[in-house]
Amino acid sequence: MIPEEKVREVAERISIVEVVSDYVSLRRAGGNFLGLCPFHAEKTPSFNVNPAREIFHCFGCGEGGNAFSFIMKMEGLSFPEAVKLLARKSGIEIEERQLTPSEIKTQDEYTQFKRINDLTTSYYRSVLLNGQEGEPARQYLANRSVEADISDVYQLGFAPDRRDGLVKHLKNNGIDLDAALKLGIIRKSDSGWYDLFRNRLIFPIKDARGQVIAFAGRVLDTTLPKYINSPESPLYHKSSVLFGLDIALPTIRTGNSVIIVEGYFDHLALYRAGVKNVVATCGTALTGTHAGLIKRHAARVYTLFDSDNAGKKATIRSMELFLEQRIPAYVISLPAGDDPDSFLTAHTAEEFIALRDKARPAFEYFVRTLLAETPPDSVDSKVRIIDDIVPRFRKIADSIERDLYEKEICRLLGITNHAFRKRMGGGKLPHQESLVNESTATQPADNIQDTLLALLLNYPEAREEIVRNGLETIFSNDYLELARLVLNSLADSENSQTLCHLAEILEKPEQKALFSRIMVSEAYLADIDWRSVLNQCTRSNEKKQLASIKDIAARLSILDPSSDEYSLLLKQADALRTRKSKL
Ligand code: UTP
Ligand code: MN
Repeated sequence: MIPEEKVREVAERISIVEVVSDYVSLRRAGGNFLGLCPFHAEKTPSFNVNPAREIFHCFGCGEGGNAFSFIMKMEGLSFPEAVKLLARKSGIEIEERQLTPSEIKTQDEYTQFKRINDLTTSYYRSVLLNGQEGEPARQYLANRSVEADISDVYQLGFAPDRRDGLVKHLKNNGIDLDAALKLGIIRKSDSGWYDLFRNRLIFPIKDARGQVIAFAGRVLDTTLPKYINSPESPLYHKSSVLFGLDIALPTIRTGNSVIIVEGYFDHLALYRAGVKNVVATCGTALTGTHAGLIKRHAARVYTLFDSDNAGKKATIRSMELFLEQRIPAYVISLPAGDDPDSFLTAHTAEEFIALRDKARPAFEYFVRTLLAETPPDSVDSKVRIIDDIVPRFRKIADSIERDLYEKEICRLLGITNHAFRKRMGGGKLPHQESLVNESTATQPADNIQDTLLALLLNYPEAREEIVRNGLETIFSNDYLELARLVLNSLADSENSQTLCHLAEILEKPEQKALFSRIMVSEAYLADIDWRSVLNQCTRSNEKKQLASIKDIAARLSILDPSSDEYSLLLKQADALRTRKSKL
């Protein structure tokens, strides 16, 4: 743990312009510095650094934050690691706080785990590379055209056909076997210790930084199960690990996109073909945690699953996760019967790239798959199709995209927009969801709320006034949450350091982007007559809210009056009307 004062000391010593200049060439543009964003590909600069506020923001991809966030993203580091790196650069020495006994114990255990995994990796690796025992595996890899350089990148290994080869190796190296037991790579029975993997090709599974955290073992023939994986352990949680992320990160970062596959060998085949922005799940379906992890690193994802039924299901399920996380997702479709490995055995890398470039938006893929399975040739089948589509359709965050899909769906099904909307309204809706989605889910930049937030940040008098009026009356959603956070952190002390510190603690990417955008926008820094701006903003804000009465009324007209949503909306409409009459 790095003491908070140290973090602040580092923050005060460094200048964000200098930090960023090590990676990006910047030129001055008014109060900001401007350059090409290192987090997405662009030809005209939209990456802004504001020295006064120690904040950066890219208007192209929305990435933003302070110097620490920049280094974290750029170097793939955790917060403490980024602080240490910048401390070193600015000559500040960091003494870490004394650890508590239980922290020391955990740390010792992790050091021990790391040593066990490193010993295990090198043991399997040396069995594969040297000696007679590794021959069948060398043969196997040769048959699959896995050359030495690739084997080296993945640090492939081989678990010999012995009961306790690994057990002995660990013991000889002074390892406490009970610790290795916790990692699940060895086991204990009445007749003694034995290895988990026997006669299997070994893929070490690594975290984003390249530390081995688990292993997967594949049989060399057609025996089942084909793979066994390390069990869950203190180091390994399969629902949050993406195989190959460590190898892929630099390429993901430059292209800002990632391809997801399901198999270790698929990953390997793509890497061998020069396609390196790839990750694989480890013997499990994609989870929300995976999707979140992907969102941290890439702005767009491609799924590349087998072309069989299981692959289709997995594709559609993953689409839902990406819709929920609002990551644009595309589907790369392989010819029937192929998986990525078999495709690349028979085709060139260029042919694969051509397939990737033809990837379709996941939602479109979903609708087409559905229509291929259930042709919309009767009222009955149309109703079934719509009912399948509606819950997923609601998850599309972007309203323009939603409009386009609505038109497309209606065209394909030969129904009117009105009929589709009616079905949307008629189904079971979780409370309020529809309203939230329709009006605010994507939070397109809202000029009025932007300006109000800027006033809150810059003008103490405006802040008082806004607080007096009640934050809830002018802010909503992410703006409201952010406004609360700003007030809380300003309550303690008032300086620009406090504000740029906020960039570190914001968790939601939407809020982060919002915050850095406003902090870096020059227009808001200029001297303005805050009172007149505030008045203008509150007035147009109120007008806008009132306009929503119309929307609510339209919606009420198609809802069942006995439904929960109906009564909820009715209450909202009443509240808005009361407000209007007071104006
Ligand atoms: P595949 O059977 O497609 O494996 O399963 P693969 O990696 O492409 O291997 P090859 O090309 O057939 O040799 C896809 C993934 O599902 C998990 C593994 O993560 C595998 O990579 N899996 C599969 C298991 O965990 N256990 C199994 O028994 C089979
Ligand atoms: Mn496969």
